[in-house]
Amino acid sequence: MSRSLVIAIDGPAGTGKSSVAKGLARSLNASYLDTGAMYRIVTLNALRAGVDLDDAAAIAAATDEVDLAVGYDPDEDRFLLAGADVSAEIRGDAVTKAVSAVSAVPAVRARLVEIQRQLAAAAGNVVVEGRDIGTVVLPDADVKIFLTASAEVRAQRRTDQNIANGRPGDYESVLADVRRRDHLDSTRAVSPLRAAEDAIVVDTSDMNQSEVVARLAELVEQRAGVSR
Ligand code: DC
Repeated sequence: MSRSLVIAIDGPAGTGKSSVAKGLARSLNASYLDTGAMYRIVTLNALRAGVDLDDAAAIAAATDEVDLAVGYDPDEDRFLLAGADVSAEIRGDAVTKAVSAVSAVPAVRARLVEIQRQLAAAAGNVVVEGRDIGTVVLPDADVKIFLTASAEVRAQRRTDQNIANGRPGDYESVLADVRRRDHLDSTRAVSPLRAAEDAIVVDTSDMNQSEVVARLAELVEQRAGVSR
């Protein structure tokens, strides 16, 4: 292949986005870039620095100094903060609770978008996963996918995940939280969550993970003329 193939995958939590993006990267033998993990790393950095999460300027200042590195391998988590692997810590409750506040800071987004563009450009064929990849980070991506699923299905998936991880699984409160976050994500001023005009919207409500991966591989083949 003469030039790299860039695939953007966006959508809200609970659509199976990460598993599907990794699966697609594997099936195309491409690199994989998890931009949500980058927001999580800068959030962990801000928490470690003891920054007040209401203080956007302090969050931005902490992010200016951040030393982060991420891997490209869909089969191996490699997320480093100041040279140390923080793959497990960035998935913990403290980071998960704080990441919305940190990712809403425009200076944080500007910094990470710049790094994401550099990483994507250096990655060769790549599947990039996030919330604003097709709209903001890589508007020239070859194929843009926007994954959706009904709020009820996403809430059920999250409830099942909680139960599998030994956490309480109260479906009604999870559903209320999914709806609240949908509203916040789609109405925020900077990079609201929405499908790019030229994105292909795929509703995963009635599909399992391997069906979604197969469907996306098919779409990539059609759109970009790539065969698996
Ligand atoms: O996909 P995730 O749950 O790991 O993402 C963590 C947070 O980062 C989530 O609150 C949304 C935010 N995010 C974002 O604002 N832009 C991205 N490109 C990726 C994630």
